[in-house]
Amino acid sequence: MANNTHGALLILGGGSNMLFTEDFEGLVLRNEIKGIEVVNEDPNTIYVKAGAGEVWHAFVLHCIAQNWGGLENLSLIPGSVGASPMQNIGAYGVEIKDVFHELSAYHLESGEIHTFNKEQCQFGYRESVFKRALKNQYIITDVTFALSKQPVLKTSYGAIQQELEAKGIDQPTIKEISEAVIAIRQSKLPDPNVLGNAGSFFKNPVVSNVIFSALQERYPEIPNYPAPANQVKLAAGWLIEKAGLKGFRKGSCGVHEKQALVLVNYGGSKGREILDLSSFIIDTIQQQFGVTLEREVNIIPSHENIL
Ligand code: EPU
Repeated sequence: MANNTHGALLILGGGSNMLFTEDFEGLVLRNEIKGIEVVNEDPNTIYVKAGAGEVWHAFVLHCIAQNWGGLENLSLIPGSVGASPMQNIGAYGVEIKDVFHELSAYHLESGEIHTFNKEQCQFGYRESVFKRALKNQYIITDVTFALSKQPVLKTSYGAIQQELEAKGIDQPTIKEISEAVIAIRQSKLPDPNVLGNAGSFFKNPVVSNVIFSALQERYPEIPNYPAPANQVKLAAGWLIEKAGLKGFRKGSCGVHEKQALVLVNYGGSKGREILDLSSFIIDTIQQQFGVTLEREVNIIPSHENIL
């Protein structure tokens, strides 16, 4: 039976959302299952199955080249296809659950391959059943997406509109949306091949209406988004910037200068130092706003009670 502790099994996709705080004592499996195939289609939808080890962005580009719509807003996200449903990756108004059809996964205990539909994956904001009830029980082997033959464009995210307007495009293709998303990401997010980072280090916190109203009285400009159950999602990057920590540096790691939700390793920082930096940020935000930030990055080995 696998778990993330010593002597255990660790399954890696691209490894782009992980922070190692010490050497991992156990077996590391890197998922390299490849292959992209059309498994079904109807007049509007094409069902495309991709091996879990396919590189996410290469898969997105492949779909765009065929004019299969739905993944363009998720361009340039680091990592693999198999990791995408684990945390229901999302960006610029789209989440994987919007285009997800089903996945196959190897059940470690029984050795059987099980199929999961969208409901069974229990997708939430950066969440799925594979991070919760079924954590460490399955290896995802392939994912099937339901893509559109007549793409419905999602351009409501402000920065996409601005990017398209700046280029004088008013009827964008999915390729142009992908290019806009790539330009936005490159302008704000550090390239992990150049500057070590794991994307957003924290989740955007979801708070009750009561807490939100109190915060809005103190900070009328606070960004906010509707969340399920009458709650409100806040922007962790805004909170961190407001606390004066954007660009903050401690040793050779710090808070990215252009996006405060991303922690960066300028070179030489140990995982433990980055974890300590994240704890400092959590404490600061708690003190200043009374809001608890939750890490989005997977910490290896998993410390369920890290403070
Ligand atoms: N903001 C600041 N200062 C900052 C960063 C953000 O004030 O340093 C403000 C922005 O001005 C905006 C709000 O916070 O009003 C939200 O910022 P942004 O649109 O950049 O998105 P985010 O909430 O910081 C999330 C995802 C990203 C995804 C973007 C775009 C999470 C944890 N992160 O970031 O995903 O690319 O939205 O959709 O939900 C990732 O998961 O690794 C990731 C990069």
